[in-house]
Amino acid sequence: MPVLELPAETTVAASGDTVTVRAASAADYDAANILFKAQLGDGFTLDYELWQAICTADSHHVLVATVGDSNEIAGLAVVIVSDRIRLAHGTRRRRFHLDHLIVLPTFRRHGIGNRLLKEVIAVAEAQKPSYIIVNCEFTNVAARKTYESAGLYLVRQASDRFEIAFS
Ligand SMILES: CC(C)(COP(=O)(O)OP(=O)(O)OC[C@H]1O[C@@H](n2cnc3c(N)ncnc32)[C@H](O)[C@@H]1OP(=O)(O)O)[C@@H](O)C(=O)NCCC(=O)NCCS
Repeated sequence: MPVLELPAETTVAASGDTVTVRAASAADYDAANILFKAQLGDGFTLDYELWQAICTADSHHVLVATVGDSNEIAGLAVVIVSDRIRLAHGTRRRRFHLDHLIVLPTFRRHGIGNRLLKEVIAVAEAQKPSYIIVNCEFTNVAARKTYESAGLYLVRQASDRFEIAFS
């Protein structure tokens, strides 16, 4: 299992629902598949073995946000962790790549994306990556606002990629 120390506390979304963030497991596959379909279209099917692999690999942190007493999964965040070791330079740089941040359409604008990002930042504070990369269209206002709301700021940008940081 990936090493993930998450705060146990819950917060209350603007809707009044209780939101809890926890590490994902293979058992969350069906909910994850629905989330990916919400973003990528009904034609997309999440590969079960890949999902299982990222939930257990040290190279990934996968978080899910559950809502209310039913613990329905409303959102997820997937972070790829990579270490770049350059022997001649004697350097080791860890990178976090926020590969996916998805909230189900019916749960959007209730603070769930913000909450997931804050947990990603808590993990980053513990594991100290040199930087966090996100792949996101510059025109994706919801994503940009959500990054900002979590305290992340733009360091550099290319056509479809921002480098963001936290202080
Ligand atoms: C981006 C996404 C994860 C945001 O999730 P969310 O739960 O709706 O976000 P939150 O409710 O936490 O909103 C966080 C902030 O962004 C703002 N925001 C969110 N969606 C917005 C929108 N469509 N337009 C303007 N502002 C928006 C909120 O008002 C909030 O700002 P505030 O803290 O100043 O009030 C969600 O829209 C989504 O799943 N989009 C599709 C997938 C995607 O594009 N992911 C990002 C790229 S990987």
